[in-house]
Amino acid sequence: MTKIVIKPDNISFDVESNETILDAALKQNLNLPHGCKSGTCGACKCKVISGDLRLEPYNKTVLSDYDKNQGYTLLCKAHPDSNAELYIPGLVDNFPIKIMPAKVVSIVKQNSIAIIKFKTPQAQKFGFFAGQYIDIILNGKNRSYSIANCYKADNEIEVHVKYHKDGVFSEFVWNILKENDVLRFKGPLGNFKLQKSNKPLILVCTGTGFAPIKSILEELVLSNSSREIYFYWGNRFYQDFYLMGQIIDNKKSLNLKESMCLSREEYDGFYNGRVTNKIKNDFSDLSNFEVYACGNMKMIEDVYEICTQDLNLNKEFFYSDAFTPSV
Ligand code: FES
Repeated sequence: MTKIVIKPDNISFDVESNETILDAALKQNLNLPHGCKSGTCGACKCKVISGDLRLEPYNKTVLSDYDKNQGYTLLCKAHPDSNAELYIPGLVDNFPIKIMPAKVVSIVKQNSIAIIKFKTPQAQKFGFFAGQYIDIILNGKNRSYSIANCYKADNEIEVHVKYHKDGVFSEFVWNILKENDVLRFKGPLGNFKLQKSNKPLILVCTGTGFAPIKSILEELVLSNSSREIYFYWGNRFYQDFYLMGQIIDNKKSLNLKESMCLSREEYDGFYNGRVTNKIKNDFSDLSNFEVYACGNMKMIEDVYEICTQDLNLNKEFFYSDAFTPSV
C-alpha cells in the first residue's frame, strides 16, 4: 500500500499495489480528473511532484516521451512504487461523489434510445456540472451514463440508454425497469464540463454522445449565454437522431448553428458525411475557439487531429468525453 498526496489542497489517499491511482481515488469517492480510463484521452494527465510511478501501456499522442520526461503521468495508467505527491489544482471545487437512490419518473423510448428521468431524494442535495456522468449500479456492476440535463433545483437526472441486443442493462431497461422503480447510482464523475469562458464553442458528438452536449446546451440556456455555438451531431442513419425538438427550442434562446451529419444515408437538410469532414469544410481557423467532443474514441481522435493540426485550435481548449457503449 502506498500513499498519494494531492497538492495544493493536501488531499491524501491510499493505493493498493494492484490499483491505478485513478481507480483507487474513485473507489474512495475522490473525483480526480479523468475521461476514458484507458490511457487514450489525456484527461487524467498531471504533474508528478515526487515519487516513483510505473505506467501501463498508453497512447503516446496523449502523453509524449517529452511530457513524461517533464514529469507528467496518466492517472488511469499509473501505479505508485513509492509514496508520491501529485499537482492537481482545483479539486476542492468539485461536487462530492455520493452513492444515491433515484426513483424513475419517466421512460420514453425513441427508436433505439431510452430517455430515462430520475428524481433524487429532496433531502439529499446532488450537485453536478453540465457534462459529468454517473455510474448506475445494477447487480453490483457499474454502468456509466452521462447526465443529459443541467443542474437545477428540481433534483432531476436524465440519462440516454442505447439499446444493444442481449446487453444486460439494455434488456433490463427495455423489459424490466418501470416508473417508480428505485435504482442506485454513484456520482457525479468525470471532468468533462463547460468551462467559464466567452470563446466561441464547437460542440460535437456522435450517437448518445449527445447526452452531455444536451446538458451543456441547457446550461448555456440557463445562463443566458450569448456565446457563438456551432453544434455538430453525427449518426449513421436518420432514425438514430432523437430529441430533435430540443435543438429547435435551444435555437430560440442561443446563438446556435446546428449541423446534423449522416454517414450512411442521405436525407434532406442533413449533411452527407462525417462530422469531421463538415467541421473541416466549415472552418479555416479555430485559434479563438473551444471544442467539446463526446462520442466514440475514433471520432474524438479525428476531431482532435483536425482541429489542432489543420485548424490551429489550441490543444488546451479541446475537451473530450470518450466512451465505449455501456450494455
Ligand atoms: S487517458 Fe486517463 S482517463 Fe483518459
